[in-house]
Amino acid sequence: MSQFPLVRPRRLRRSENLRSLFQETEFSLDDLVLPIFVEEEIDDFVPITSMPGVMRIPESKLAGEIERYARAGIKSVMTFGVSHKLDADGSDTWQENGLVSRMARIAKDAVPEMIVMADTCFCEYTSHGHCGVLCDHGVDNDATLRNLGKQAVAAARAGADFISPSAAMDGQVQAIRSALDGAGFIDTSIMAYSTKFASALYGPFREAGGSALKGDRKAYQMNPMNRREAVRESLLDEQEGADAIMVKPAGAYLDIIRDIREASRLPLTAYQVSGEYAMIKFGAQAGAIDEARVVRESLGAIKRAGADLIFTYFAMDIARDGI
Ligand code: PBG
Ligand code: ZN
Repeated sequence: MSQFPLVRPRRLRRSENLRSLFQETEFSLDDLVLPIFVEEEIDDFVPITSMPGVMRIPESKLAGEIERYARAGIKSVMTFGVSHKLDADGSDTWQENGLVSRMARIAKDAVPEMIVMADTCFCEYTSHGHCGVLCDHGVDNDATLRNLGKQAVAAARAGADFISPSAAMDGQVQAIRSALDGAGFIDTSIMAYSTKFASALYGPFREAGGSALKGDRKAYQMNPMNRREAVRESLLDEQEGADAIMVKPAGAYLDIIRDIREASRLPLTAYQVSGEYAMIKFGAQAGAIDEARVVRESLGAIKRAGADLIFTYFAMDIARDGI
């Protein structure tokens, strides 16, 4: 026997106020991190055509941009460098005056309370575009760990609040934690890209970051079809000492966000990646969807699945327009 007509869920949906009162999930600017692309040796902003509304920021204008984000209410940025100094190892990343360090220094000098997360990888600094040092059978995991440690210490010395390793090397969190502690940076945190899939949704990022990659990252990033392994990867990073963990991409992986939320007590983040951003922007430009509503729905769904923080290129749109 159905409980209808005694039970009528529509009673709680009758007005805007009722719907707000009974809404289970919210997100606000406090939950968002803005990823930014900073290019050296250029004078003007460069639009990224596959990500309408996103620009590469000239290094010389980074301080002003950070001030503008802070005024808009942004609390945190994730920095990606667009380097002009590529080599086989990505050695610019660990130079005391390399782009990784300069971005952190400029951002923290401009707005000391801005939380700066330094994306920690090599693919934008290597001539081959891979996320580490090559050997005869692909990316050399353990040689890359040594370089990740050096890059992490350089970024920490420059003032980065979080080291965010995205290279998808085994043992990278432990290697970075011990390098940081060894250099005295015991309070520098690690935001681990702990469950990172080898996703086609990173397509626009490759243009944004000017990646030289031919081929793919399937030998180090995860197979998108694996659910058990996805949980295992984040739990490994927790054991290695991560302060927060991440699922990337976000929207197509809500089941994984939920699984990891239930398996760990660490803060959990999710990265709404470049392809997710592009799909919404181009869909809206074509008149197929309402951008503001789809943005709210997609971010709300990521929170509902269990993410505490979301990395999203829409963060400034939300700060500006409150969408
Ligand atoms: C590189 C890196 C990528 C992204 C963040 N860091 C690309 C990749 O792994 O190929 C993707 C971000 C996005 O698509 O928005 N380590
Ligand atoms: Zn990389």
